[in-house]
Amino acid sequence: MNKDVVIIKKLYKEINKSIILNDINLNLKEGLIYGIIGGNGSGKSMLLKAICGLLYLSSGSIEVFGTILNNNNFPSNTSAVLDAPGLLPQYTVFKNLKILASIKDVAKDEDIKEAISLVGLDYNDKRTLKKYSLGMKQKANIAQALMEKPKLLLLDEPMNGLDEDSINNIRSLLLDLKNNNITIVITSHNSKDIEILCDEVYSIKKGVLSSAGGTDSEVSVIAK
Ligand SMILES: Nc1ncnc2c1ncn2[C@@H]1O[C@H](COP(=O)(O)OP(=O)(O)O)[C@@H](O)[C@H]1O
Ligand SMILES: [Mg+2]
Repeated sequence: MNKDVVIIKKLYKEINKSIILNDINLNLKEGLIYGIIGGNGSGKSMLLKAICGLLYLSSGSIEVFGTILNNNNFPSNTSAVLDAPGLLPQYTVFKNLKILASIKDVAKDEDIKEAISLVGLDYNDKRTLKKYSLGMKQKANIAQALMEKPKLLLLDEPMNGLDEDSINNIRSLLLDLKNNNITIVITSHNSKDIEILCDEVYSIKKGVLSSAGGTDSEVSVIAK
């Protein structure tokens, strides 16, 4: 039986009297890939932000790797690529990751090179990110998350705007990571993009999470 990596209990988030996350209960187990599918504004990004400690919770609890997040700590061993990643177009992929690594003092040059190679980019590439395709930029974003060698990886709409080849590329990258026992959560507004990859799929609608395809309000599991 895999270990629990994330345990979310009765999570509510309210902003200006509207409920953004509504009684979310979710357990994520080590080494599995989870998909969260929902339309625009359904709460996907908010849920990922909550899991990485970036959201002040209205009520409920989130535990990551055995530690409860209490609105002023960040989970250990966790990396995320959220909506607005901060890579700079005027620099190469290596220089971008080097800048971020030095700010946070999280990765050595060797870790950066390994992360860039892992996503299938070339760390010696002299082109700046301005010259990268959308797929290559997305890979650079994922490399940035990987350089810290996380055990939990949260990716917000990683397939957005990618063509079929790039989607397949990222799929095989994520499966490699899963084989290394990394737990992955990916969101999408398009179930086709991620269903094939996921061990469990949930859908989110107006902040309510449910097992995909089911009508139960209680979260259950679709095993594949
Ligand atoms: N800073 C904010 N202030 C108020 N409401 C917000 C804020 N950010 C997001 N929301 C609302 O929260 C809901 C969920 O947003 P989000 O998680 O970004 O949706 P998704 O990622 O599924 O498109 C939406 O209704 C959105 O309007
Ligand atoms: Mg979003």
